[in-house]
Amino acid sequence: MTVDSAGDAAGTAAQDDAAAVDALLARHANDPHALVQVLREVQALRGWLPRETLARVGDGLGLGLAQVEGVATFYRFFHTRPVGACRVLFSDNVTDRLLGSEALMADLCRRLRIAPGELRADGRVSVDRCSCTGLCDQGPALLIDHRHVLTRLDAGRVARIAELIDAGVPVAAWPAEWFEVVDNVQRADVLLGTPVVPGAALAAAVQRGRQAMLDEIVRSNLRGRGGAGFATGTKWRLCRDAPGAMHYIVCNADEGEPGTFKDRVLLTRHADLVFEGMAIAAWVVGAREGRVYLRGEYRYLLEPLNAVLQRRREARLLGTAILGCEGFDFDLQIHVGAGAYVCGEESSLIESLEGKRGTPRIRPPFPVEQGYLGQPTTVNNVETFCAAAHIALGGGAWWSGIGTPKSTGTKIHSVSGDCERPGLYEYPFGTRIGRILEDCGARDTQAVQVGGPSGTCISAFEFGRRIAFEDVPTAGAFMVFDRSRDMFEIARGFAQFFAHESCGFCTPCRVGTALVVKRMDKLAAGRGSRHDIDVLYELDALMHTSTHCGLGASACNPLRDTIAKFRPAYERRLQSLHFEPAFDLDAELSVARAVTGRDDPASHLEPVHE
Ligand SMILES: Cc1cc2nc3c(=O)[nH]c(=O)nc-3n(C[C@H](O)[C@H](O)[C@H](O)COP(=O)(O)O)c2cc1C
Ligand code: SF4
Repeated sequence: MTVDSAGDAAGTAAQDDAAAVDALLARHANDPHALVQVLREVQALRGWLPRETLARVGDGLGLGLAQVEGVATFYRFFHTRPVGACRVLFSDNVTDRLLGSEALMADLCRRLRIAPGELRADGRVSVDRCSCTGLCDQGPALLIDHRHVLTRLDAGRVARIAELIDAGVPVAAWPAEWFEVVDNVQRADVLLGTPVVPGAALAAAVQRGRQAMLDEIVRSNLRGRGGAGFATGTKWRLCRDAPGAMHYIVCNADEGEPGTFKDRVLLTRHADLVFEGMAIAAWVVGAREGRVYLRGEYRYLLEPLNAVLQRRREARLLGTAILGCEGFDFDLQIHVGAGAYVCGEESSLIESLEGKRGTPRIRPPFPVEQGYLGQPTTVNNVETFCAAAHIALGGGAWWSGIGTPKSTGTKIHSVSGDCERPGLYEYPFGTRIGRILEDCGARDTQAVQVGGPSGTCISAFEFGRRIAFEDVPTAGAFMVFDRSRDMFEIARGFAQFFAHESCGFCTPCRVGTALVVKRMDKLAAGRGSRHDIDVLYELDALMHTSTHCGLGASACNPLRDTIAKFRPAYERRLQSLHFEPAFDLDAELSVARAVTGRDDPASHLEPVHE
């Protein structure tokens, strides 16, 4: 090829790119609120987002380059520098690490002759880490090109992956079984075990009428499953009563809390029920539009979910005059995230839906008053919508008869870590932690991290405690650690996660999470003193009270719990440069006993059926 013809070819490619970008912008009606979706789709065209492309996107959407760049650099799945034609991201949750992900990643990098985060000279591949991919029950896992998930990695698979990448074999031609994601439902109760005919719950809601349906949700005492446990009936009523030109229903399917994967399975197996719950909320609140915020790691679910939506439209379960009911119009779209844990926080999520950086908003006003596009918005978790659909069928009194008085219904747990049968376990609220451990085949368990890193670390002494808002609340993660595990290293992994995911907006969190990692690294290197542990306590107190959103406020939870309950794991770091994994469980338990100050921590709970 001559220099001239090479230049012509490059010019034609650039024109093609520009035309493709323009077509894509037109598909989104040049709406600036679609910026995150536009960037995701534009990036899919050529793998990364060059500056001139960002400028063209900005022109098309009527936004300045700085604004577009600000958004593109916020999300971890957007690349403003070249990345490999094949982009490999290893899931980096502690459960992946327990299964050997770090050694597998080092092996892949060695075979591909690159360092993590580096682009290979031939441009063919780059390898890096990402936060938990929601596949902890079948890890170690990795993502390829942000749209293919590979599960159950082992040394043999890694060796083959390296060969296929080197040989330039497209991912579509790799062995299909590598991409298999299983649902792993180990114990089903109401939500996972009761089949519901599409439309049945919605028909029941319509038959009850809007106010009566809301009354049933209130009667059920349903509390949100996304973590905070806010009363769903109150949320729907506040949203309904808030003035606004439009009302919106948003499903929070960001599921970013490490160790949580129940929403993945609900969206895979029970998508109809999720959408049905959203439509019921729309019926009650008077909303005509909805959004599902699907985490970028679950991009592979987009096509199947859209197919379900299409079927529901054809069955008149979405669209205008739903179920033939004049004036009941509701439809929804799926928005795919781009790798930011903070976007699970409802106000960040709304910012992201509006095409902005996912910076949490100042509240009040709360989303029920001013949410998406400034309008009253109900944001609920995937599992909450499924529960609402069941309540439409069974009634509030039935639901409130399950569980405990303050925590009604069932809860789905994503069980992973050191146990024989990881997967989903659904129980009535009030179930003992020890019961879940028995059911999943956990042995010699030292600790369980309930509710993910921002939740509670439970020591063996506390296994009689119960899952309930009034005892151990949870958004769903249940990570099991046996006695061979070093709880200091587990806490250090969580500290790294929070530092990685801090959005950087407020100083206490941005600086605090980094300082925590620094102190932990110092302790890990055997250079720490008791003073460092005191500083960690101080950082916890500071961040708990002064950060802008829940991420910073809960970032030290695992530290606080593990220092209090597994102090010897920290003390060992002070005594010796050489860490000995064996330790004295009795010593850990006596510390835990002293901390909790009670012999039977679950004794204050109402008895429940198990
Ligand atoms: C840092 C952070 C991350 C969060 N991530 C999620 C999430 O992934 N999914 C979720 O449903 N709620 C998440 N939440 C809670 C939401 O802000 C919100 O309370 C929830 O979506 C409301 O739904 P619910 O009432 O059904 O629980 C997160 C909160 C914080 C502070
Ligand atoms: S607490 Fe952390 S995540 Fe939340 S706004 Fe501040 S910097 Fe961002």
